[in-house]
Amino acid sequence: MNSGEREIVVVADAAALAAEAAKRFAEAAEAAVGRAGRFTVALAGGSTPRRLYEALAMEPYRSRVPWDRTHVFWGDERAVPPDHPDSNCGMARTALLVRVPIPPRQVHRMAAERADRDAAAREYEAGIAEVFALPPGGEPPAFDLILLGMGADGHTASLFPGTGATRETRRWVVRNHVPTHNADRLTFTLPILNRARVILFLVSGPDKAQALHDVLEGPPDPERLPAQRIRPSGGRVVWLADGPAAAGLAPPGGARTCPSVD
Ligand code: 6PG
Repeated sequence: MNSGEREIVVVADAAALAAEAAKRFAEAAEAAVGRAGRFTVALAGGSTPRRLYEALAMEPYRSRVPWDRTHVFWGDERAVPPDHPDSNCGMARTALLVRVPIPPRQVHRMAAERADRDAAAREYEAGIAEVFALPPGGEPPAFDLILLGMGADGHTASLFPGTGATRETRRWVVRNHVPTHNADRLTFTLPILNRARVILFLVSGPDKAQALHDVLEGPPDPERLPAQRIRPSGGRVVWLADGPAAAGLAPPGGARTCPSVD
């Protein structure tokens, strides 16, 4: 695997995006268990991944993914309890985790609803360190797979433009205040994101087309577009987008010019 590889995959629509992502999730899981005896994955939040999670809860993936060897984390979380409709953990639990045989002790929830979110971030980081048998605060671990979404403003995880978490260079997980949402989040930081073996972006819908073009084909502008900062040094970034989200990309991913048929 070359470091810093970037792959752009365009599929027809949201259903095809979920199917392709599920295939890649299962491949990553099988490779990780074959290599290290377990699979460590950080889930994305928002709405796009729901169809992926639902696909993973159904055959063939319910049987194919080694759930008993899988550790699930989250790349970010809103400051709400897990039973809140905005909870990333709640969404993944409903769509996937209650429907597959993953041991509960291997599901590592971000307690972003706690009043002391700085402490919650430090404790989440300590929990990651424990699973990876690393000293907290040192070199971040390399997740086998990190799923990420992207907002129409170019944010990813909860790294929003101009917010403090985008400038974190040492911590793995931090509290991040997001003025545009008037809310706190807990989020992975660039140091841990950019250690991943594989980052899989899931980008769907026409509202993402401009940002996807700007992130992938525009000039470097990482302050405005935090998703541009995702460049794992020893890993691979796969941008998986459906047709509407990829419409602004240069062919072959973008607006296809159908050959004229005489
Ligand atoms: C979150 C996510 C966030 C999300 C994007 C895209 O907690 O909201 O982590 O980064 O992936 O905002 O969200 P949609 O998939 O809903 O478009």
